[in-house]
Amino acid sequence: MKALLLCGGEGTRLRPFTHTQPKALLPLAHQPILFHILDTIATTTIREVVIIIGPNGKPIMELLRKTNPWGFDFTFVDQPTPLGLAHTVLLAREALGNAPFLMYLGDNVLDEPLRPLVNRFVCEKPDALLLLRRVKNPRHFGVARIEGKDVVQVEEKPEHAQSNLALVGVYLFSPAIHQAVRVISPSPRGELEITDAIQQLITDGKNVTYHLLSGWWKDTGTIADLLAANQYLMKKLTPAVAGEVKKSTVKGVLRVAPGSILKNCRVVGPVTIGKGCRISGSTLGPYLAVGDGAEITDCHLSRTLVLADAHLKGVTLTNSIIGERVHINSQQKTATAHSLLVGADAVLEL
Ligand code: G1P
Repeated sequence: MKALLLCGGEGTRLRPFTHTQPKALLPLAHQPILFHILDTIATTTIREVVIIIGPNGKPIMELLRKTNPWGFDFTFVDQPTPLGLAHTVLLAREALGNAPFLMYLGDNVLDEPLRPLVNRFVCEKPDALLLLRRVKNPRHFGVARIEGKDVVQVEEKPEHAQSNLALVGVYLFSPAIHQAVRVISPSPRGELEITDAIQQLITDGKNVTYHLLSGWWKDTGTIADLLAANQYLMKKLTPAVAGEVKKSTVKGVLRVAPGSILKNCRVVGPVTIGKGCRISGSTLGPYLAVGDGAEITDCHLSRTLVLADAHLKGVTLTNSIIGERVHINSQQKTATAHSLLVGADAVLEL
């Protein structure tokens, strides 16, 4: 089996951060979303991974050419325009060949080993095995109706959902999907929907079955979901201090990468600090993830992502994302927390 990993989307709901980097490279806990997904795929027997990348996808290729602890065999396929999830299956036709495949949306994060699922798919050989999860807001997802072991209908973001079973962005397909994606037409949002291709399989009498997910799952398509996913994943971190921690108090889990110095800080974990950071006089956490090369002085930061090389002085932030190389300097001594989303290279004087 192969995997088809979709990283071609523009990530419009995650702007401004997706102006400067692909969504899959945004960090959760201490690593890119993409690495969490590859960790999950690595729990299966799959070793060949086809990655769909968009016009902003070059950094993904560069990163995976340097870093491949999983030993995957990667093939990259360009998607110049985001014309839908089923469109990526058309584009990847040659790279996938006649192998059955695991299709994984590059913004979905699961806390579930996929090996049992892949094994079931290989044994039972259905044409599609869908991951479903009960949700409160089915209208925001693809929705499935089931009867016994079968999926009997799927609809993309229906106004009146027939069930509360959402399609998780992880699917297992036999090569029958290649025929189905050729038959469907673009949806009202102008995209070739994978949900329509699955409905086509059902209409053609193919065997479409499901697995009901009970564990944690997040589509990190929005800022709120990204921050929620960060908090969930940070709860699972274990302590690891390679850098220096001086004259500081630490409660809970702290990770400090090599070359970083924390001085005169109060840490309430989970907190993770990347390489080469200089941090002093600050209250850090909970749920603070700081990228490489950041400088933080006299700040209060909680539930926040600080991306690489940001410089923060004198600010109180919560539920914030601070982009790469941002400089924020505050002269006011106020304890009121700001919630800021600041795109790369911005300079703010508060
Ligand atoms: C996509 C699919 C949808 C699925 C969702 C899961 O939606 O079209 O069927 O439920 O992913 O994350 P999108 O996030 O592209 O709107």
